[in-house]
Amino acid sequence: MTKILLLHGPNLNLLGLREPEVYGSTTMDDINERVTTAAAERGVEIRPFQSNHEGALVDALHDARTWANGVIFNPGAYTHTSIALRDAIAGTGLAVVEVHLSNVHAREEFRHKSMLAPVCVGQISGFGWRSYLLGLDAILGHLGAD
Ligand code: DQA
Repeated sequence: MTKILLLHGPNLNLLGLREPEVYGSTTMDDINERVTTAAAERGVEIRPFQSNHEGALVDALHDARTWANGVIFNPGAYTHTSIALRDAIAGTGLAVVEVHLSNVHAREEFRHKSMLAPVCVGQISGFGWRSYLLGLDAILGHLGAD
């Protein structure tokens, strides 16, 4: 069975409360449920994990090496800063699709740069919670599991 890590970075535990005009009113638990349901229809298992800590996200990627076929990852603000997460993706060789709720390219200039995108399969940005469903479709297509 294909298994996907659904990884959320800092502040995404506050989805629903946090700047709803930017990120919408859907909570992280809702997103996890929607992705899990859509994946189950395709015979795919989703394991969600969230952390506000860079090292814990690195650990989750290292651990995923042993069981996951791919990763859907919203790295939050670490997108724009984290060489450690970039190295974890490159070092594990995991297939990762980077997702964002907001269109990072239409926002402040510091959000235009992703440290991670060059080592990801691709990036999906700007479709609210649906970015994660698009991310699921993208990772399964990449894995040939669709
Ligand atoms: C985000 C975009 C990031 O710039 C921001 O720091 C986040 C959320 C998004 O999903 O739109 O925390 O990753």
